[in-house]
Amino acid sequence: MADKKVFEGKEEFLTLARLALGERAQDVPLYLGKIARKYREAAPEVAAEIGTLLKNVSGRSSALRRETATPLPVDNDSRLHLIRMEKPEPGMTAPVFPPAVSRDIGTLIKERQQVELLSDADLEPTRSALFVGPPGVGKTMTARWIASQLGLPLFILDLSAVMSSFLGRTGNNVRAVLDYAKRQRCVLLLDELDAIAKRRDDATEIGELKRLVTVLLQEIDEWPADGLLLAATNHPELLDPAVWRRFDSVINFPSPNRDDVKRAIVEYLGKQSGVSDEWIGILSMLLHASNFSDIRKRVTGIRRAATMNNVDITKEIEGYLQRAVESMPHVEVISLAKRLYAVEGMSQRRAAELTGVSRDTLRKSDSKDSKDLGQEASNG
Ligand SMILES: Nc1ncnc2c1ncn2[C@@H]1O[C@H](COP(=O)(O)OP(=O)(O)OP(=O)(O)O)[C@@H](O)[C@H]1O
Ligand SMILES: [Mg+2]
Repeated sequence: MADKKVFEGKEEFLTLARLALGERAQDVPLYLGKIARKYREAAPEVAAEIGTLLKNVSGRSSALRRETATPLPVDNDSRLHLIRMEKPEPGMTAPVFPPAVSRDIGTLIKERQQVELLSDADLEPTRSALFVGPPGVGKTMTARWIASQLGLPLFILDLSAVMSSFLGRTGNNVRAVLDYAKRQRCVLLLDELDAIAKRRDDATEIGELKRLVTVLLQEIDEWPADGLLLAATNHPELLDPAVWRRFDSVINFPSPNRDDVKRAIVEYLGKQSGVSDEWIGILSMLLHASNFSDIRKRVTGIRRAATMNNVDITKEIEGYLQRAVESMPHVEVISLAKRLYAVEGMSQRRAAELTGVSRDTLRKSDSKDSKDLGQEASNG
């Protein structure tokens, strides 16, 4: 066996890794400085190189650095962080948006990028927006996307996590978070906003809850125009209408339609997947009632299986179709076959071959159904 190489500086290396990958990335420069001093004599080139790197870092002053310098607010009793900070991700791929959502989100971003244009006309950009929609359609992801496009850190306050058993404290916590976020240039997301309203059924807490909503309303009102305040909810009907009204803009995220499902599949398969339009159409039929989050999981699962089995992705989709057909009640298989030719424009013969339904059965299927499906095809 070959001799193991001696790894000098192993401890320093590990400490550095812990700092960088844990929650103390802000302490990395400090620690590097210490290492540079320690090795000044034993390894002068290394020490000098670290010194140069450190000088470059301290010369830069970005929003991100300022914000990592101030500690995140914590809950007074548990000492746990109340918010999560995410750095902007420059290469992030855009979420799949239906056209109306795309327009609204584009406007939010553009306003921020052209603040001067607005301020010349004595106007401010949209300060706050409420994202409304079912689970897994990209509300949280969109907040991340906007922050990345603007090159700003994203702070996330998850209200379902922060609703502590003592509501009185939740009010203080919400205030602490908004106060903290107000002082930085950032995007703040109040995620799962309806968590506040869900507590309303308990009569003893109504007073506390009212106070909490009041705090929230005040904080939204006082939110400065140089930051962007976002909030997300699955249950807009639970929200106090006064909360709704406070937001400059309300953006509805619908469940994906057939076209969105296809775009998401293409996106998750990756540009070079080589999967034909026909198979993307088939997969979109199988996933048509899913949200983006489920589609991503399914497509990723297919890609993973294709890699592990060393087969073409199309082959894996074929297998997925076969398994889906086997587990469906027969009426649903017939309905799937009919959709394939009526909506996806496949030949009846091909639809029959893929689903195992006889062409005879398909021909006999009632004409009303076909009319509905024809309608679905033209609606998109
Ligand atoms: N519009 C989208 N385009 C592309 N991928 C999406 C989209 N929406 C969701 N996804 C995928 O699903 C994951 C979960 O989405 P996200 O957490 O943003 O949903 P959400 O609307 O915030 O759901 P919830 O209401 O449950 O919080 C994302 O990380 C992403 O991978
Ligand atoms: Mg979310």
